[in-house]
Amino acid sequence: MKSESGVIKMNQKALFIIFGGTGDLAYRKLYPALFNLYEKGYLKEDFAVIGTARRPWSNDHYHEVVMSAIEDAGRDSGRTNDDLPRKFASHFYYQSHNVDDVDHYVALRKLADELDEKYDLQGNRIFYLAMAPRFFGTIAGHLKDQALLTKGNGFNRLIIEKPFGRDYPSAKELNDSISGSFKEEQIFRIDHYLGKEPIQSIAGLRFGNALFNSLWNKVHIDNIQITLSESLGVEERAGYYETAGAMRDMVQNHIMQIVSLLTMERPDVFDSEHLRDKKIEALENIQMYTKEEAKKYFIRGQYGADEANTQLGYRDEEGTDNQSTVETFVAGKLITHNPSLDGVPVYIRTGKRLTKKSTQINIVFKNDDQNIFAKDASEKLKTNVLTMHIEPDQGFTLEFNTKTGNQGYNLSPVHLRYRKTATEKAQIPDAYEGLIRDALMGNKTNFAHWHEVSQAWKIMDVVREAWDEEEPAFPNYASGSMGPEAAMQLLADDGRKWVFNPRS
Ligand code: BG6
Repeated sequence: MKSESGVIKMNQKALFIIFGGTGDLAYRKLYPALFNLYEKGYLKEDFAVIGTARRPWSNDHYHEVVMSAIEDAGRDSGRTNDDLPRKFASHFYYQSHNVDDVDHYVALRKLADELDEKYDLQGNRIFYLAMAPRFFGTIAGHLKDQALLTKGNGFNRLIIEKPFGRDYPSAKELNDSISGSFKEEQIFRIDHYLGKEPIQSIAGLRFGNALFNSLWNKVHIDNIQITLSESLGVEERAGYYETAGAMRDMVQNHIMQIVSLLTMERPDVFDSEHLRDKKIEALENIQMYTKEEAKKYFIRGQYGADEANTQLGYRDEEGTDNQSTVETFVAGKLITHNPSLDGVPVYIRTGKRLTKKSTQINIVFKNDDQNIFAKDASEKLKTNVLTMHIEPDQGFTLEFNTKTGNQGYNLSPVHLRYRKTATEKAQIPDAYEGLIRDALMGNKTNFAHWHEVSQAWKIMDVVREAWDEEEPAFPNYASGSMGPEAAMQLLADDGRKWVFNPRS
């Protein structure tokens, strides 16, 4: 069936069982995302949701919560059918649940079977664990033992959220604890960066354009830079952040996923299996450092107060240790040995309380062509740079040299800019909507495979171990700056500099 916009719509029958149904993630992301899928026809009347958590809610109260989540998420949606949220919420069922209590799983199975019959769901089940990973193993084990997993032709899918471990050994333990109940192809690991449209469009840009595809190699690319900078601090998440830090929070997952998409070889076919294989290969081809190399090529930082003393330093934030050694900033150099880009450095950077919120990727091309326009031999051509703007801007900038309009033959750089308009941006589904739709349709393209997660941990574990040998001198950057001086020096040592270098 085709919609007016010409997009092929496929709806799917399914029962969602959400563990953590009273939580913040469910309220802010999952209920609005499911509603959007319902409004767009990916879910029709044959779906149901069971929300579980410890609190004793009634179904009526649950419906009110779901409707309020939809309203909060889309206040100015311009919806014409006001009755839709109520109709949608009527598919929701609440069950109070203690994840350790076997009897509760028995009750859950009974309700699941009833709803399966009532809505003709054909045994399709999606289990969404919107809770702390320490419960994953317990829940997965009980789901299997108490026969909540469908046996017939329907599907069983498990959606889980990060943090997926603290290092490789703990990630493996976590993975082992769920893999007794779910096979790898049934596990959908959410990395919300993979749900962002501009991240998904990396493959299209690279492999859908002869211009870029032909230049995407070690002959033409000098270096790649990835910046995920945030202007906010840890806000009210200090408790979690004190156990994580920027490396675990942003680098091991989001940044390493982006690295794999930028450095992978071209898949023969654009489907989830081929893409996954190429991403795994790309991560396996990142140079594994010794501890000495890790110390040299990775910089950590923690923010102090800003220069005017209007922003608190990390150690003075509510809920942090006043001697905390947790890093709020990481910069590093990775080296890929994937054949096409063999030896090309990938500089990565992320931090809290930096100058500006910006997620961007800069592809810096080589400029060692002979400069026939030079007045003297030392004058080099200005580097061509392709920037992919991920957030808050979305689009591209291509920087290249062109003749200036004045006397003589002088070159100066111009910026070819393409940005999505506010209207275009508003039409892009939220990352969660897209990811839940993919899980519903069984499309694993935008989810992290275990081999990707485990390889990313192995690369990061060396850095962590190297860091743990020394006490950091924190704080070492001011709120509102672009991080510690050492992060600038990292590139300067290679005769390079960060392309993205905002002053305010
Ligand atoms: C999350 C981290 O995964 O990503 C947060 O836990 C971070 O600390 C967030 O703020 C950034 O995501 P985005 O989509 O705002 O760039």
